[in-house]
This record gives sequence, C-alpha cells and structure tokens, in this order.
Amino acid sequence: MKKPLSLSLILAGSMLLSSHASANSHQTPAPMPVEMQQMMKVYTPELRQKVMALSPELKGTIQQLHAGHTRRAKETNLRQIMHEILSEYQSIASAVATDNAEQAAEAARRLANHRIPKGGLLAYFPLDKVNTADLSVLSAMNTAVEGSALKLAEAADKGDMSMAASYMSDIMTGCVACHQKFRGVPGISANLMTPEGK
Ligand code: HEC
Repeated sequence: MKKPLSLSLILAGSMLLSSHASANSHQTPAPMPVEMQQMMKVYTPELRQKVMALSPELKGTIQQLHAGHTRRAKETNLRQIMHEILSEYQSIASAVATDNAEQAAEAARRLANHRIPKGGLLAYFPLDKVNTADLSVLSAMNTAVEGSALKLAEAADKGDMSMAASYMSDIMTGCVACHQKFRGVPGISANLMTPEGK
C-alpha cells in the first residue's frame, strides 16, 4: 500500500503549493474545482454542505479522480456503472483464462476508465461518509482498482498472462475494501421480520 499513499502525498503536496501561492487571500475559502461546481448544482443542500466542508486537498483529489476519466454518463447512476465495471472484470477473467491478451488489455483499460455516473461519485455515498476523514481513503482504493487494471493491461500487452492473472486479486481487493467502507448492505428486504436482539 505504499503507492497509493505516495500518490495522495503528491496530490496533497501540489495542493499545498498552490494554496501557498494564494496565501494573501486568507479569508476566502479555497475555490471549488469547476467540474465539481457543475456537479454540485444538482446536489441537495445537505450534500452540498458536506462537499463544501471537505478539505481543499481532498477536493483536489476528487477532482483529479473525476478528471482522470474521459467518459461521462448522462443518466446512469453509480450502481449501474458498478455493474458495467463488474462486466469488465468478468471479461478480463474470461480473457485471461482463454489466453486472449487483447481482450484482457482492452477490458482492463475500459475498467480503469469507467464512466463517471450522473452527479459524480459522492452523490451516491452515504451522507455520513461524505467527510474528509472517511473519503481520504478514496485515492488508495482507486489506485488498487484502476492502477492494478492498468498494470494488468500492460502485462497482457507483453503477452505475460501469468503476470496479468496476478493482478486480478489486487483489483478485487480494492473493490472489496471500498464496498466495506462505502456500500452498506445491498438488497435488504423491508418485509422480513428481524429476530429479537439483532
Ligand atoms: C470508490 C469505491 C468503490 C470501488 C473502488 C468499487 N465499488 Fe462497487 N460500489 C460502490 C458503492 C458506493 C456501491 C453502492 C452504489 C449504490 O447502491 O448506489 C457499489 C455497488 C456495486 C455493485 C452493485 C451491487 C451491489 O452489490 O451493491 C457492484 C456489482 C459493484 N459495486 C461491483 C464492483 C466491482 C467489481 C469493483 C472492482 C472492480 C467495485 N465495485 C469497486 C463503491 C465502490
């Protein structure tokens, strides 16, 4: 987990540098990146307030995460995008198992450059997780999933399918980590009796 840490340090460092440059304007809050401003127009006042309160470093990191993806969804929500990502993951697995390097590399690059859901990621996170402390793990998870997918693609390009296979678990470790923190429990029924004491 060294890489993700250094990535966020670089991001934090560059934010520090840029905030240093505007040290005179101490009173004004850090400007919100333009794309985030656009996304925030459709946020509820509650969510908007939470996002505004994030540290400038984290706002920069989130902006970078969004900007790193070239594809934007118009109407698709995060759960649907997640299913797209799962399909890409399954496509990679199928490709690795059948020694299809090109399919593996293309699916892995599509996974890494997944579409950004309508309103961006934060709109779909539980409100109580939209704070600087909880969201600070985002870039590490992103590196685990997307960084490993890009490494898998490179290994596949070189025809090294056993190396490519080894990145499958790194990717899935990132999926699991993010779900444990931000997903909650999907598919709970409101029509089942909860046993006493549970
Ligand atoms: C940045 C955090 C994050 C990462 C990384 C992540 N997910 Fe998700 N995932 C979520 C959240 C949040 C939801 C719940 C979305 C909702 O229900 O609105 C979700 C939901 C899903 C769902 C919908 C069904 C369900 O169980 O809730 C699937 C399928 C899914 N993720 C697959 C994946 C796969 C496969 C990966 C890794 C390749 C992955 N996710 C990586 C945050 C993440």
